[in-house]
Amino acid sequence: MLDVTKSRRSIRRYTKQEVEESRIMQIIEAGIWAPSGLNNQPWKFAIVRSQEVKEALARQTKYSSIISNAPICIAVFLDKDLSCDRTKDTQAIGACIQNMLLAIHALGLGGVWLGEILKNADNVREILGIPPHMEFMAVVALGYPAEKAVASHRKKPGEVIVLEK
Ligand SMILES: Cc1cc2nc3c(=O)[nH]c(=O)nc-3n(C[C@H](O)[C@H](O)[C@H](O)COP(=O)(O)O)c2cc1C
Repeated sequence: MLDVTKSRRSIRRYTKQEVEESRIMQIIEAGIWAPSGLNNQPWKFAIVRSQEVKEALARQTKYSSIISNAPICIAVFLDKDLSCDRTKDTQAIGACIQNMLLAIHALGLGGVWLGEILKNADNVREILGIPPHMEFMAVVALGYPAEKAVASHRKKPGEVIVLEK
């Protein structure tokens, strides 16, 4: 688990190989086993394989090529009808997306969390036909990796621990 957590990198280029439905379901399952406030499980998912729909989503972000070249995109929504507390709900969605990214990596796939597209959240909802009570949170683009994970950097624990008594 610790190795998977540390070796996960954002993967933005994918082969044309299709991603098996069973793997998509494993990724969604990993997402839904995230913790949430009062276990309210506020997440909803839209799975996009259609090239036409991906192209429409791609036009909503400067990271268009990632979306249009990914075999699968999963749009993640916060269902406000299930809300417990806005801060807790958005934290739960973050935990859900991270679980999905770890599952993607553990399954030998590659993925990336796309947030820049949030600037056009309403357009994304309309393209996908998702009702307004579901707030668009992110796209996770994924597929079999066509690039090596690039080296990344993190601050050392000593730089981020502000108190230890
Ligand atoms: C909330 C959020 C939004 C992000 N949005 C984008 C994005 O729009 N485009 C992109 O290429 N990467 C995006 N990323 C990925 C980050 O750039 C990446 O996680 C970060 O640079 C660390 O690299 P790593 O994931 O390889 O460790 C986003 C990540 C998070 C958590």
